[in-house]
Amino acid sequence: MHKITLIPGDGIGPEVSNAVVQIMEHANVDIDWERMEAGAEVMQKHGTPVPDQVINSISRNRVALKGPITTPIGSGFASANVTLRKRLSLYANVRPVKNIPGIKTRFDNVDIVILRENSEDLYSGLEHVVIPGVVESLKIITEVACMRIGKFAFEIAREWHRNKVTAVHKANIMKMADGLFLECMRKCARDYPEIEYEELIVDNTCMQLVTRPERFDVMVMENLYGDIISDLCSGLVGGLGVTPSGNYGAGGTAMFEAVHGSAPDIAGKNLANPIAMILSAVLMLRHIHETEKADMIEKAVHAVLEEGKFLTRDLGGVATTTEITNAIIDKMD
Ligand code: NAI
Repeated sequence: MHKITLIPGDGIGPEVSNAVVQIMEHANVDIDWERMEAGAEVMQKHGTPVPDQVINSISRNRVALKGPITTPIGSGFASANVTLRKRLSLYANVRPVKNIPGIKTRFDNVDIVILRENSEDLYSGLEHVVIPGVVESLKIITEVACMRIGKFAFEIAREWHRNKVTAVHKANIMKMADGLFLECMRKCARDYPEIEYEELIVDNTCMQLVTRPERFDVMVMENLYGDIISDLCSGLVGGLGVTPSGNYGAGGTAMFEAVHGSAPDIAGKNLANPIAMILSAVLMLRHIHETEKADMIEKAVHAVLEEGKFLTRDLGGVATTTEITNAIIDKMD
């Protein structure tokens, strides 16, 4: 029995989470979900979007599945996502980006794993006004965090039988900060001689991603480049509605989530596409070594997409969340 924290989240979160729970039940995966509330409504009650019991639950269970959480703009409400990542030290964001059968895109040979450092860089939140009209925003890069993400990237490459790691940087301009990042990546690479290692400047990386994405395998980068490039790569395979992700941290803790937001425009209307959340759960099943069930659910998702009969609106169809979920369940029988 796996005890797993489930945070349904805001907006379409409960709808797509419900789809996952139903699919897991039909797949006979032995999960005891510990449901936790976090997000905008919780903020009203507890004064924080992520109460301590949520953190305690994830720390105890070491595995969590999370729906999207609304972050109101300009209200001073700290992002629940950033809070969760920080308090649980989830330092590595992993986003596998691969073509999905049935989803037509400009490329049909994309198979990339993006590793984004999640804890520092320009996201340290250290900004101040130097003099009126001049703002300084601090980019913090540390050897500890770089070595940690570098090692994680090469470990994933080895475990997932990948051949190459590309370190993405801008060390020609940020010679010290990105220079330190590269120095650490090179150190890590030495311990994995069977894996090819290369370095590529971030602007050139973007150009190559949209012309020759097949040349990339595993990519590792700092927080800001990772934020941007991981969304760019989602676009290569069909967008945020079909892209899963995992956040991994110290002590083996991991939290899985779709990369899209709470979609307030379609919330509660049974229109949300649950695929990204389902594929995030598939990633979670692989993490807890339920490989067979993960393969079975992924195959069913691919079969439904390939058939094209039950697609949600964002994928060009007219199916509801319930209909696409039931279609996936039918394919598993
Ligand atoms: P969004 O991803 O929620 O929505 C952008 C567009 O994509 C909307 O038109 C929406 O209807 C559509 N969309 C998103 N997911 C969909 C799905 N599964 N099925 C069908 N259509 C889908 O991004 P937006 O509007 O910028 O953000 C809304 C809220 O979500 C904000 O409060 C933001 O802070 C939060 N957010 C939370 C994230 C998380 O919890 N990981 C990630 C991104 C945004």
